[in-house]
Amino acid sequence: MSYQRKEIPAEEIRRQEAICLRIRGRVAADGAAPLAMVDTYGCQQNEADSEKLRGYLQEMGYGFTADEFEADVIVVNTCAVREHAEMRVLGNVGALNHSKKARPGQIVAVCGCMVQQEHMAQKIKRSYPVVDLVFGPHELWRFPELLERVMLSHKRVFAAEKNDGVVAEGIPRRRDGDVKAWLSIMYGCNNFCTYCVVPYVRGRERSRRPEDIVAEARELIAAGYKDITLLGQNVNSYGKDLGCGVDFADLIRLVDAIPGDYRIRFMTSHPKDATEKLFRTMAECAHCTHQLHLPVQSGSDRVLKAMNRSYTREKYLAQVALARQYMPDLVLTTDIIVGFPGETEEEFAETLSLVEQVRYDAMFTFIYSKRVGTPAASMPDPYTREDKQKHFDALTELANRISGEKHREYEGKTLRVLIDGETGKEEYNLSSRTDGGRLVHLRGDPALIGEFCDVKIASSNTWALYGELV
Ligand code: 5AD
Ligand code: SF4
Repeated sequence: MSYQRKEIPAEEIRRQEAICLRIRGRVAADGAAPLAMVDTYGCQQNEADSEKLRGYLQEMGYGFTADEFEADVIVVNTCAVREHAEMRVLGNVGALNHSKKARPGQIVAVCGCMVQQEHMAQKIKRSYPVVDLVFGPHELWRFPELLERVMLSHKRVFAAEKNDGVVAEGIPRRRDGDVKAWLSIMYGCNNFCTYCVVPYVRGRERSRRPEDIVAEARELIAAGYKDITLLGQNVNSYGKDLGCGVDFADLIRLVDAIPGDYRIRFMTSHPKDATEKLFRTMAECAHCTHQLHLPVQSGSDRVLKAMNRSYTREKYLAQVALARQYMPDLVLTTDIIVGFPGETEEEFAETLSLVEQVRYDAMFTFIYSKRVGTPAASMPDPYTREDKQKHFDALTELANRISGEKHREYEGKTLRVLIDGETGKEEYNLSSRTDGGRLVHLRGDPALIGEFCDVKIASSNTWALYGELV
């Protein structure tokens, strides 16, 4: 592979922080306390990126609001995985005309995966004059510089060149909560599943150095975070680009060795390279939860091949069996695409039968969405939207039935949970998660937020468990 790993030098990030201070001086001179709004679409990686945008904005002196009519700077961090998310973004960005009219001088920025697609950047340039700044995921590290350029020039700025991606350490972050934290371990994807736009917009796989990851985990644990999710498009290929002999299982061990009362989980795992070593490591590391998100996408070998997933149904099922052998209490979740181009009735039935066989704790199901520039976009697709919707509904019904049944098996059991927030409801005022990530509602003192507690499960439905503190 011709990809050259590109790291942003530390002095570049310091230069960005110096720009933050300059902006801070300028906006403070304007009088009123400035406010920013960051609106996030899509996956956890985007949530993590938005924490960096807020980190920079905070250094620029901005406070935060969720009301676009109050904001001086609006950043919309977008997703490109499915058309539905893009339509929502475009609708909401268009509507910012109103807030901008009411608040002259308001700056609107659109960033993230959607605008890394050339046709979308063009569309915004042509049809969304409300947008002042467009930048792709590879430019996030220089957001202060781009924003300053808009502020000084009063011209629109577009920065979403084609790029294999960079690694930038040391960007300030303003984290969303104080119990759970995202920890990105790698960026990009090399898999080129034929339906997926991610490899085109997020660039090639590049891993952060183990020492940087461990240092961040240490900081999080010292700051009291109790639940750390290691993030990557495909965590199982962690380290391959570094060549330093640390693979993903080794990385789990390095983090697990940090003393403290916390747990780690991770996503996403590609079935093609989940290994026995990984399952053994998960079973052996005390801080590692027995939760695995292992997207299968389809139960049909013909469709899996057309998707370029590099595994068969049989290989997938063998992996699930192996993982469960190491962790009999494994909580297993998955992603499934319904209506991939040319997927027949029989092929869809194979997905249903796989789901019956595996019995996932939870499933994320999607109707196939055609993505510009991907190989699947030009595959023949004789089936209608109605056909796909019918299949989708059948799969959802099955998924709900199974997770309802699995939830019922918890009734009467006592589980360790981490209390992570308030529900706003009177009867069950607190929400929590089991080690396996199942949602548990309970009654208790909000002072318990951030604590691990034992809860006896009294009842359940498809989506959640309900319990009492013991
Ligand atoms: N259409 C529908 N679903 C998709 N996903 C990725 N690309 C598409 C697409 N074009 C789903 C996959 C992936 C999840 C994050 O999104 O199931 O695992
Ligand atoms: Fe997309 Fe496949 Fe990469 Fe996941 S592994 S981001 S589905 S190309």
